[in-house]
Amino acid sequence: MPAQQGAGADTDPGGANGASARPLAGPDAGRLEATQVRAMFDGIAGVYDALNTAMTAGLHHRWRARAAELADLGPGDRALDVATGTGDLALELATHVAPGGEVIGSDFAERMLDRARVKAAARAGAGVCPRFEWGDALALPYADRAFDAATVGFGARNFDDLGRGLAEMVRVVRPGGRVVVLEITTPVRPPLSWFYELWFDRLVPLLGRVTQGASRALGPLRRGGHAAPSSAAATIGDAYTYLPNSVKRFPSPATLAAELERAGLEQIRYLLLAGGIVAIHAGTVPRERT
Ligand SMILES: C[S@@+](CC[C@H](N)C(=O)[O-])C[C@H]1O[C@@H](n2cnc3c(N)ncnc32)[C@H](O)[C@@H]1O
Repeated sequence: MPAQQGAGADTDPGGANGASARPLAGPDAGRLEATQVRAMFDGIAGVYDALNTAMTAGLHHRWRARAAELADLGPGDRALDVATGTGDLALELATHVAPGGEVIGSDFAERMLDRARVKAAARAGAGVCPRFEWGDALALPYADRAFDAATVGFGARNFDDLGRGLAEMVRVVRPGGRVVVLEITTPVRPPLSWFYELWFDRLVPLLGRVTQGASRALGPLRRGGHAAPSSAAATIGDAYTYLPNSVKRFPSPATLAAELERAGLEQIRYLLLAGGIVAIHAGTVPRERT
């Protein structure tokens, strides 16, 4: 049994999918197809880091640091950060594997990866520098047992098939290595649950709409010298409407722990941070894997 620790249809984002696109509101809200997810994150890459900091008062860095600790890495180890986005968790992992280790951050949204590469270049020469590569989390382009640990931060919620994404992470980690999942979760106890409802259901979508308005007023977003597609500003408001819905439909911490077990992990435990707004799950790949 997993052990708990501590206290701690409106639019098609990206406009990419026509009739088959899943809606942002209604019963299927918070669930998007992979092509929609990719277009959405490509569209918001330029504001993703700033909005994360605004939404969490900067705490997201601390949560990733804790997740990286739970990956249980040491100098010379090899780590994979799946759905790495703009690369912050991969950069955290890099501090644990130096000297001599290797970190790969993989994602299927090229514009998010572009941001990650800019950050990594700024740190080149200081310890281990992560490499950022295109990869689909549901079909990772890496050999079995290639890594000492695999992590995913705020990405599992977006997987089209959670079980398959977790199984892929387990596959690429060596026996005895860790798989770590950092994700937003829904607190159940008042008063935090009331505050969370207000913050997530009302203020986060509002923040997205305000940022969208600002982006439109300021003209095309620019990333690394390239103009963003004209749909970019439109996707910001959509993305931050999708976010609370995707959190609501994601499994509870106990159910996610059971999913990790089903994916083949053992010694599963999870921490709840920030009063239960964030969960970090960690499990170990069995030594006697067939
Ligand atoms: C909310 S962002 C999280 C980024 C980063 N891990 C962090 O800690 O901020 C979710 C990321 O998951 C990526 N993603 C979602 N589904 C994916 C998949 N099937 N394969 C690869 N990346 C995926 C998106 O492109 C996006 O960059």
